[in-house]
Amino acid sequence: MLGVCGGIAAYKMAALTSTLVQRGATVDVIMTDEATKFVGPLTFSSLTARPVYSSLWDAPERIPHIRLVREAQAVLVAPATANVIAKLAHGIADDLLTTALLAARIPIAIAPAMNSAMFEHPATLANLATLTGRGYEIVDPDEGFLAERERGVGRLAPEEWLLEALARMLARTQSLRGKRIAITAGPTREAFDPIRFVSNASTGATGIELAREAAARGGDVTLLLGPTALQPPPGVRVIGFTTAQELYDAAMREVLDADLTIATAAVADWRPSTRSESKLKKTDEDLDVRMVRNPDVLAALGERKGKTFLVGFAAETDDHEANAREKLRRKHLDAIVVNDVRGERGFGAGPNHLTLLYGERGRRDLGTAEKRALAARLLDALEELMCS
Ligand SMILES: Cc1cc2nc3c(=O)[nH]c(=O)nc-3n(C[C@H](O)[C@H](O)[C@H](O)COP(=O)(O)O)c2cc1C
Repeated sequence: MLGVCGGIAAYKMAALTSTLVQRGATVDVIMTDEATKFVGPLTFSSLTARPVYSSLWDAPERIPHIRLVREAQAVLVAPATANVIAKLAHGIADDLLTTALLAARIPIAIAPAMNSAMFEHPATLANLATLTGRGYEIVDPDEGFLAERERGVGRLAPEEWLLEALARMLARTQSLRGKRIAITAGPTREAFDPIRFVSNASTGATGIELAREAAARGGDVTLLLGPTALQPPPGVRVIGFTTAQELYDAAMREVLDADLTIATAAVADWRPSTRSESKLKKTDEDLDVRMVRNPDVLAALGERKGKTFLVGFAAETDDHEANAREKLRRKHLDAIVVNDVRGERGFGAGPNHLTLLYGERGRRDLGTAEKRALAARLLDALEELMCS
């Protein structure tokens, strides 16, 4: 799908559309209202032999903003105006293009094109940084002659760069086809009476984003998900668990033959030794709760892993990498992701920082970003390791 916005470079998209069609692509074009002032929709509909859409209200009974992005494999927004970039960064959906982009679960590339002052404005740069953090691919503008007879950064990236970005995104959509992926996510709850339990701050967000990304790459994904208020992604088989024992049983039953297993669940190491059938009555006395060991799910997967590429997560507050390397060896993992959780960093929404460790000395810093973008970076790195 191509999203064309109201910038001078809109005319260049006719040539790109023609190239894509000649290479066998099926192309749907959405134009903003302003874009139609620069190029006529007829140009695109003739090239694609398909209708061109610009309004939410042309055929609302067919819900075009959802249908178009469900049928597409990837979206390129080019030229992306400062205005559409700002709307996307803030979740504004006030026309067909921005509404469709908000509804998209497929890779999106944004190719900004504008006057250099607009491009270098702190608002535009901050909006682009937000989109990068969310996993959008930004195709940087080129430097050179601008329509207003100035020179600077802001020319739409050359066609070749746009085609490369599309090829990268399309490769991602197929890269896990035929692979079975198992992901554990979320906290466990270990109850000591019907309403009280010991748990932790995990929300499952990291595992949910990994499951979403793995499914978007064509993987056959099973998500073992603990109690959370977050919604699992569509197109993924979800198996719920509450306690560490339930996760252990489900993991032994469901995921031993996966090609790739990523264990992000925050599993309780201990559980209360007894669970009262009725609510414990409040007294003036202190309450002693004895905790006993839970089974170690990750170690058990490591002992039985066969051909599975097994990846653990280490949520550490001190000595992160040394502890994680020790866990990598002891639990027979192929790789481990270090997550610094001091001060509850790493839990829930917001940016996170991950480091991937593998083999004797292998190390890759995945940087700081939103969990959705980090999920894509982690899967890129794991796919590379699995092939090497
Ligand atoms: C002649 C002309 C050229 C323009 N070129 C650009 C441009 O290259 N990039 C840009 O971000 N805005 C450009 N604008 C401003 C946008 O058209 C304007 O912000 C509009 O609201 C964008 O609408 P859209 O983002 O819904 O397409 C241009 C405006 C005019 C009148």
